[in-house]
Amino acid sequence: MILISPSLLSADFGALGADAQRMEQAGADWLHYDVMDGHFVPNISVGIPVLKSLKRYASVPLDVHLMISEPLKYIADFAKAGADIITFHVESDSDPVETIKAIREAGCKPSISVKPGTPAEAIFPYLELVDMVLVMTVEPGFGGQSFMADMMPKARAIRDEITKRGLDVMVEVDGGISEKNAALCAENGIDVLVSGSTIFGASDATAMIALIRKNAEEAFRA
Ligand code: DX5
Ligand code: ZN
Repeated sequence: MILISPSLLSADFGALGADAQRMEQAGADWLHYDVMDGHFVPNISVGIPVLKSLKRYASVPLDVHLMISEPLKYIADFAKAGADIITFHVESDSDPVETIKAIREAGCKPSISVKPGTPAEAIFPYLELVDMVLVMTVEPGFGGQSFMADMMPKARAIRDEITKRGLDVMVEVDGGISEKNAALCAENGIDVLVSGSTIFGASDATAMIALIRKNAEEAFRA
């Protein structure tokens, strides 16, 4: 099953609750919430209090993407604020095994992410421990960047390793995802698609989510 997670980084943060509900009505399976600390990435976005407010308006799972240097320090706070899935970066300063454990203990689904320059093998030691792997298809930090098609062999290598080990792990992509590359992602074993500027920029978000989903569903290869 393909899941679509619109990135709220492209929302109107002054009307975040309304934009979240608009995305749910348009067919979003999850809502993707980007946290940036100005240190792990050269940009600052939103954090714990905004997530807590958003939770009151959202009914689908909140897919929290931590682009921060010390995720382990804040896991309990993000869980308490309403995160359902918590993704952290293998390149962060926190110990991956401890961070995954903290996410599970907080009652959330753990997910580990790789930046474009990090090889697939970097997350292989943690595959048995996580529910999802996030393959970045742009350098994290900003919405509206171009999709890096050269990340597809890495996505395929991760999906193949999951299959080889007989695991049930989702693979998500984030960055420049649109109706034009959804099929290519799905062909490479991606089953969760994050998309910010494409969905928020569409004149009909419902139609855009449906098109991304259809293109991915037709092309998916495990
Ligand atoms: C980038 C963020 C993404 C971003 C995607 O660092 O992690 O979630 O919002 O936005 P688009 O789809 O516009 O590339
Ligand atoms: Zn993201």
